[in-house]
Amino acid sequence: MGHQDGTALGWKGKEGLPSGGPSTHEINLADLSKGWSKQGGQVKVVKPPLPSPDKRWKIIDAKMRKMGYQPHALIETLHAVQESFGYLDEVALRWVAKSLRVPPSKVYGVSTFYNFFTLKPQGAHTCVVCLGTACYVKSASKILEAIEVFTKIKPGETTPDRQLSLLTVRCIGACGIAPAVVYDGNVSGRVTPEQATEKLKGYFSHAS
Ligand code: FES
Repeated sequence: MGHQDGTALGWKGKEGLPSGGPSTHEINLADLSKGWSKQGGQVKVVKPPLPSPDKRWKIIDAKMRKMGYQPHALIETLHAVQESFGYLDEVALRWVAKSLRVPPSKVYGVSTFYNFFTLKPQGAHTCVVCLGTACYVKSASKILEAIEVFTKIKPGETTPDRQLSLLTVRCIGACGIAPAVVYDGNVSGRVTPEQATEKLKGYFSHAS
């Protein structure tokens, strides 16, 4: 699995690991991200904008709001990101850090410490198959099966030539057009197993 290096992300590494990192009570205001400011002794909340208009970010933001944007919501929020996108990338990690006022190093540390989190895969392309209830009842498992047969990889893996990473998610908020598959960040609806493999063939035929 293609874990990114903390240095590449411009962060300090793993000092935020749960076992040795600062507790939420030890967070220094100086470490807080730019979107938050201290005014008259009070921390003024200036929410960072959503990373993109993709409505999955709104769903995750609503979860954080429910938990009061508290730093202790970190793991649950990272779960929500992974369930929506299939992995955690730099954009998501930085946005979560700002939203919850947690140092990016801690967010990176937590997401690399637990093996149920997947950082952005290394494939040139990503294919995320939704296996949420609405998609599942519309035979999403057959789509996944066809993709697995075609690519010879399982969810969470990348093809040996690094052309494609395959992932699954629980729901991407597009149940109305189930079954849904996300190719390189673009949602496709009412996908058939044949369409899915045809689409992926294009990735491999353009590979140099
Ligand atoms: S269950 Fe697949 S989009 Fe909602």
